[in-house]
Amino acid sequence: MSLKELMITYQQRVWTVLDTCLPAPTVQPYLLHQAMRYAVFNGGKRIRPVLVYLTGSALEVAPESLDIPAAAVELIHSYSLVHDDLPAMDDDDLRRGQPTCHKAYDEATAILAGDALQTLAFYILSHQLTPKLPVQQRLTMIEVLALASGSRGMAGGQALDINAAGQFGRDLGIAQLENIHIHKTGALIRASVKLGALSCAELDKTTLNSLDHYAKCIGLAFQVHDDILDVEAPTQTLGKPQGSDLTHQKVTYPSLLGLGESKKLAQTLIEEAIASLTHFNDKAQPLRELAHFIIAREY
Ligand code: IPE
Ligand code: IPE
Ligand code: MG
Ligand code: MG
Ligand code: MG
Repeated sequence: MSLKELMITYQQRVWTVLDTCLPAPTVQPYLLHQAMRYAVFNGGKRIRPVLVYLTGSALEVAPESLDIPAAAVELIHSYSLVHDDLPAMDDDDLRRGQPTCHKAYDEATAILAGDALQTLAFYILSHQLTPKLPVQQRLTMIEVLALASGSRGMAGGQALDINAAGQFGRDLGIAQLENIHIHKTGALIRASVKLGALSCAELDKTTLNSLDHYAKCIGLAFQVHDDILDVEAPTQTLGKPQGSDLTHQKVTYPSLLGLGESKKLAQTLIEEAIASLTHFNDKAQPLRELAHFIIAREY
């Protein structure tokens, strides 16, 4: 199967799992459950679940064992987008080509939908793993996802990002920007690969470290490319407002390095990611191709 076909397969697969995990819109409180579903089923590339599946598959783990970790990381990601778009954060009106959650519903509902998506991720990891994984493996997954989502991961990166906007970002250097990006975006991407790897019962340290290095590199490249798309991609293709970073005076890779250097850096990171998979066999080929996709994507 080509990467494109694999991605479609896994996107559909995780859609079904998410549909099973999310409360029905006809269950009370209706509005909250509808908003949660709106935030999850409004498109989205599902890159993080795809990473869980592709990493597991590179280690010959069956997709059934990857369904819940894949859904859990997408729940956290979807929640992070709902909160990222709020007026107090990036104040954006468009997400995945549709009104943002707080525009389609209201701010209070969007905040609560984000909260509830986050806790649902940990609920399904602790409760619904089928086939049942050993308790220790399950606990490690919860630990990895919690760390990557919280103040030492995504939420921490978001805090640094917000603090660096406008005049406060004037003196921000590339090392500080890298620190923001590896936390706000890199942490969850890294966790996705780790969750896939942790699904493998006989995982050795060297394999885990190689995969982790791959994930670190694509995680940073992902946000560098997101910054580039904010400058170059039209709103219609992007599904979110082009130029949002400029409007909100965000410090980004293009604003610090220029577009050309940012693209070169993203390319270098992707090459480094692929190099860290040298000792993997053909089963890791989709992971190599996904690395290229990260900086070739148009939205
Ligand atoms: C957008 O992530 C937010 C960032 C971390 C850059 P994605 O580009 O993966 O968004 P969706 O899920 O496909 O909409
Ligand atoms: C957000 O980065 C990362 C998250 C944790 C959601 P951005 O603010 O650049 O993401 P977009 O461009 O709005 O998707
Ligand atoms: Mg943001
Ligand atoms: Mg944003
Ligand atoms: Mg962005």
